[in-house]
Amino acid sequence: MALFDRPVIETERLVLRRWKMQDMSGFLRFAADPEVMMAAGARPVLSPEEANTTLRRYTEDPYVFAIVLKATSEIMGKIRYQKDYRRPYINSVSVGYELARPFWGNGYMTEALCGMVRYAFDVMQMDVIGISHFTENHRSRRVIEKAGFIREGVIPYAFYRFDGRIFDEVTYSLTREEYLTGVPDSSRREL
Ligand SMILES: CC(C)(COP(=O)(O)OP(=O)(O)OC[C@H]1O[C@@H](n2cnc3c(N)ncnc32)[C@H](O)[C@@H]1OP(=O)(O)O)[C@@H](O)C(=O)NCCC(=O)NCCS
Repeated sequence: MALFDRPVIETERLVLRRWKMQDMSGFLRFAADPEVMMAAGARPVLSPEEANTTLRRYTEDPYVFAIVLKATSEIMGKIRYQKDYRRPYINSVSVGYELARPFWGNGYMTEALCGMVRYAFDVMQMDVIGISHFTENHRSRRVIEKAGFIREGVIPYAFYRFDGRIFDEVTYSLTREEYLTGVPDSSRREL
């Protein structure tokens, strides 16, 4: 991933910014909620010590953003750039996200993801963004579709969760060319 200088991304209603240790209550709103975290394949934080360690890690990582609602300054969730493990050695990135339940259904994550897509192509100069969700996660499916990603297919047995459950994943991508032209790459055609 290419480093970038000003890790603040702004959209109409949101600011995506670096985490601070003072953000603990906003962090716990999603990170301690099993329903949110398990859907993303992660374990919810269970103890104050764990919360401290995880939040500290976030503060040290320029690719992990707090999602802040401009209107109230509340922290609603987290969105991050992460390695696109399916595209090693490619100038690519993936995105992962979680939103606290009281804020679901207002289009916030779609807006945040669109901001991340813009930043990845316009500033980080990525060639492609990959993204995926568990087959059953229809909310995340809609977010990804609304942000303009193109479906690649289903990968069976793609993700081993900490509790031993295995998930199939639906994968999507958006190339730089597709982002700039709005037209799906010809390689997308069925063989
Ligand atoms: C997935 C998540 C980020 C969505 O955030 P959000 O801000 O509510 O998303 P949006 O409001 O932008 O869009 C949600 C879409 O899902 C739809 N939706 C809601 N419940 C649904 C359901 N049960 N089945 C299908 N679609 C559903 C909404 O109608 C909306 O689509 P629409 O605009 O076409 O109507 C949030 O639910 C979350 O944090 N979930 C747990 C963590 C997670 O799953 N992370 C992603 C891992 S890949």
